[in-house]
Amino acid sequence: MRGFFVSVEGGEGSGKTTVCQHLGEWLKERGYPVIVSSEPGSTAIGESIRQLLLMERVRDPKTEALLFLAARAEHVDQVLRPHLLDGGIVICDRFTDSTLAYQGFGLGLAIGELERFNDWVTAGLKPDLTILLDIDPELGLKRSQRETVFERRDLSFHQRVRAGYLWLAKREPHRFRIVTASGALEQVLQETRRVVEDALILRGITVVSG
Ligand code: TYD
Repeated sequence: MRGFFVSVEGGEGSGKTTVCQHLGEWLKERGYPVIVSSEPGSTAIGESIRQLLLMERVRDPKTEALLFLAARAEHVDQVLRPHLLDGGIVICDRFTDSTLAYQGFGLGLAIGELERFNDWVTAGLKPDLTILLDIDPELGLKRSQRETVFERRDLSFHQRVRAGYLWLAKREPHRFRIVTASGALEQVLQETRRVVEDALILRGITVVSG
C-alpha cells in the first residue's frame, strides 16, 4: 500500500481530536492528500454503533468489543483502505490499539484474542505510525468535561488503560511515539508535527516547512 497511515491514541482528555485536526490542516496546507477520520464512527454504520455505545450500557465486555470491531471493519473497508490505496495520508483518531487498551487492559478481555479479531476486521492493515498522547487519567478526566459511559468508568479503569497503552508502546517501539500530553497545547502540537515529519522523511516524503 502506497499511502501513509497515522493513528493517534490516548486516554480521555488527552487532546487527540485537537491533535488530529491540527495535523490534518497542517498537511493539507502543504498540499498532501490527507483525510482525518475517527473511531468509532466515520461511516453511517459506524456512527450508529458509536451512538449506541455512548447511550446504552453494554453489560458484557465481549459485546462492547464486537461493536467497536464491527465499526472498524466498515471504516477500514469504506474509508481507510481506499484512501491509502490512492496513495493518501490518513490521520485516524483511535484505531486497533484502543480496543486492546480499553476492552483488553481496561475490561480484562484477552489481548491475544482481541489481536486476532483486530487482524480479521482490518485484513492486516496496520498504522505506519502511532502517536500515543500520554496523560495521567486524573488530569485527563478533569480536562475532558464529558459524561459518557466511558468517562464514568472509575479511575482504576482509566489507569489500566494508560498502563496498557504504555505496555503496547514498549512492545512495538518502531511503530509508537509517545508524546506527553499534560503540557501546553502548542507544545503538544509542535511535538506531534515533528514526530509525523520525521516519520514521513523516513518514508522519503519531505514536508515543506512553513
Ligand atoms: P469518543 O466520543 O469518540 O471520544 P474520544 O474523544 O475519547 O475518542 O468516544 C469513544 C470512546 O470509545 C472512548 O471513550 C474510547 C472508547 N473506545 C473503546 O473503548 N474501544 C475502541 O476500540 C475504540 C475505538 C474506542
